[in-house]
Amino acid sequence: MTPGFPAVWLRHNCPCPDCRDSVTGQRLIEITAIPNGVVATVTAETPDAVEVTFTPGGHRAVFSRAWLAAPAEPDPRTEDAKHLWRVADLPDLPAADWMAYLLDDTVRAHCLDAVARYGFVLLHGVPAVPGMVTCAAETAGYVRETNYGRVFDVRVEPDPDNLAFTSREIGPHTDNPYRDPVPTLQLLHCLRDAASGGETGLVDGFAAAATLRREDPESFAVLSATPWPFGYRDGGTELRACQPLIGLSPRGRIREVRFNNRSMLPPRLPSREADAAYAAYRAWAELLARPELLLRVRLAPGDCLILDNTRVLHARTAFSAGGSGQRHLQGCYADLDGLLSTLAVLRRRARARP
Ligand code: OGA
Ligand code: ZN
Ligand code: ZN
Repeated sequence: MTPGFPAVWLRHNCPCPDCRDSVTGQRLIEITAIPNGVVATVTAETPDAVEVTFTPGGHRAVFSRAWLAAPAEPDPRTEDAKHLWRVADLPDLPAADWMAYLLDDTVRAHCLDAVARYGFVLLHGVPAVPGMVTCAAETAGYVRETNYGRVFDVRVEPDPDNLAFTSREIGPHTDNPYRDPVPTLQLLHCLRDAASGGETGLVDGFAAAATLRREDPESFAVLSATPWPFGYRDGGTELRACQPLIGLSPRGRIREVRFNNRSMLPPRLPSREADAAYAAYRAWAELLARPELLLRVRLAPGDCLILDNTRVLHARTAFSAGGSGQRHLQGCYADLDGLLSTLAVLRRRARARP
């Protein structure tokens, strides 16, 4: 019968109202209710559809040919669905004006698609008002509240728990690798910029990981197979997670990077493995520091970055504290599943428009 479709696959995906609830579209038929060794026979055909009868039992299913022919969708989270970049590949940053983004679904879809494919978008003119960053997050998905709150302030604090709250340089990193699941989106909204310094840097971690795989496959193999612990603690918090620095999909494709010197803990490994892990980590860190990978962006008040925190590393240069140029960013976390859902709905609506 229909080559390429095992009978059990067809039986489990029967669209009839006995097998799928006609209101929700959700499946009713259970795999365990399908006889092992079920056989499918084509019992009728039209140009658009195929009728199949299953034995034992005689259940009949009608499939549209278009549905049967639909291609497999690539995992939207892996390198296969991305446009990998170096600085030279992005003469124009993916960016838009906040009002256009809010008012025009085409602009919004374009921006969310940029986050999906390039790993970031820069919104200009987001009112420099505390809390606005959560409004920006809500246009894409849902705010992920953490121990830092729904929103966190990034500015110099007198008694900091984190280097983020000093005026020091912070090298390229992903945020919160000590969480599992990690927040997959980060937003950074500039309320006030520094008198000097405090420039933002972005690195495409997937492009870097693909380069490591090509140039140093041994280090790539070690990093993708070695769980590495990360931690964060303060008076009321004790977070830990242990994941490889380069996470692969079940098919072995690049799917997630974690990189954060501040919160990395020592992997407790036999000495030879620890040595290999650190050698690979060094190679990875050297590669990530290549200047051709670091995209420099100066955030002005009202600028808001939306970043894929599983892919794009962010950094800032040191800045001068004090005076009236008190730098102040607000950040919040959200997740890519919500963003991809919003994007899919915008596209569905665009297709439905006459
Ligand atoms: C952070 C961070 C960036 C900045 O808080 O994790 O990366 O520009 N801040 O201050
Ligand atoms: Zn059915
Ligand atoms: Zn950060």
